[in-house]
Amino acid sequence: MRVCVVGSGGREHALAHALARSSEVLVSPGNPGIPGSVATPPEEVDADLFVIGPEQPLVDGLADRLRSRGELVFGPGADGARLEGSKAWMKDLLAEAGVPTARHGAFTDETSALAFLDQMHDLFVIKTDGLAAGKGVLVTTDRSEATAAVGEYLSGTAFGDAGRRVVIEEGLTGPELSVLAICDGIKAVPLAPAQDFKRLGDSDEGPNTGGMGAFSPVPIATNDVVDSLMEEAVLPTLAVLRARGIDYRGVLYCGLMFTPDGPRVLEYNVRFGDPETQVVVPRLNSDLADLLASAATGSISEEPMFEDGAAVGVVCASQDYPSSPRTGDPIIGLNAASEVDGATVFCAGVGMVDGHLVTAGGRVLTVTGTGGTVTDARDIAYTAVAEISWPGMQYRTDIAGAAANEANTG
Ligand code: AMP
Ligand code: GLY
Repeated sequence: MRVCVVGSGGREHALAHALARSSEVLVSPGNPGIPGSVATPPEEVDADLFVIGPEQPLVDGLADRLRSRGELVFGPGADGARLEGSKAWMKDLLAEAGVPTARHGAFTDETSALAFLDQMHDLFVIKTDGLAAGKGVLVTTDRSEATAAVGEYLSGTAFGDAGRRVVIEEGLTGPELSVLAICDGIKAVPLAPAQDFKRLGDSDEGPNTGGMGAFSPVPIATNDVVDSLMEEAVLPTLAVLRARGIDYRGVLYCGLMFTPDGPRVLEYNVRFGDPETQVVVPRLNSDLADLLASAATGSISEEPMFEDGAAVGVVCASQDYPSSPRTGDPIIGLNAASEVDGATVFCAGVGMVDGHLVTAGGRVLTVTGTGGTVTDARDIAYTAVAEISWPGMQYRTDIAGAAANEANTG
């Protein structure tokens, strides 16, 4: 099969890497660190299957445009992509599907928004309704910061039109889990669960980021947890989408929180997670191209199979990520890192200057280690990360640390 992956990040590199086990792969536009990258726009690529990585082209209707020309596409149309494109719409759909989520309200005027905020205590959560490149969520214990954010979001000064409607939620606490379900419009199968580390610094200190690392599998995500998520969230959601005339073929990414009152769906995304993909897909034993093609044709017939071992992915980010990432720093040690047995380096924000890879974005690389246990996988990932450097490189040192400790003491 000839597969075109659309996108340019670490997620797309991991997808392309796994697809290349059985298929010829092109990545549009990709980046200088991803083999098979082509400058040709997806509409002009000749492929048997298109796999669309990021949310923005999905929300913009790329899947619809390709399908209208008879192409086989993995990724929802603009109608289904609203799940991620409008948090208010998503929350409404969750309520209709009976999926447990955080109590919330959606507002376009400041007076009602602040009145709702008054009903919240201790932990305040403010979200842009629309897409804000992963930056539109504020979670804070500081009441005045929350109040200020409501004003800045609604006025458009913080996130332009994406914030002119805000979603305010009760703040929940507990461990988080990402489950990516592959959907064919009617049926859905889960991929192995992963846990993402969203904050910039060790011990979950610092600002929210797109994700600084991940690991899979996750001890709290037992088969029962995943089965009930499929039964109580994913399938009812697909049923409501269908009732609204939406044929959802792509990934439904469920961001879950295990609160003291039980699991809650915090968010749906309409694409693979980044960096979750970089730890889930390397563990896949089944053929990824076959799986995605079966979803795209509406005919999933098998549950994907995963290796028993573990994968740990550590994101290496540029200086001053996430506020104002510095770019143009030469990346040292990529080859040495790739030679560490069990390690794979996935390239995201990288560019090429005079034949040398340089930093070109916030999250630059994800270094994934795979091994028999989470401890082995973690050691491999960090051994490879130690080979890599550039001025100001940032990474967390505690990715999967607690899981490894538990495994060693438990
Ligand atoms: P979202 O894009 O909606 O997933 O939010 C990004 C991150 O913000 C989540 O992964 C959580 O870490 C945090 N978050 C979102 N909603 C809540 C909530 N209601 N309570 C506490 N944290 C939240
Ligand atoms: N890692 C979080 C996301 O992909 O949205």
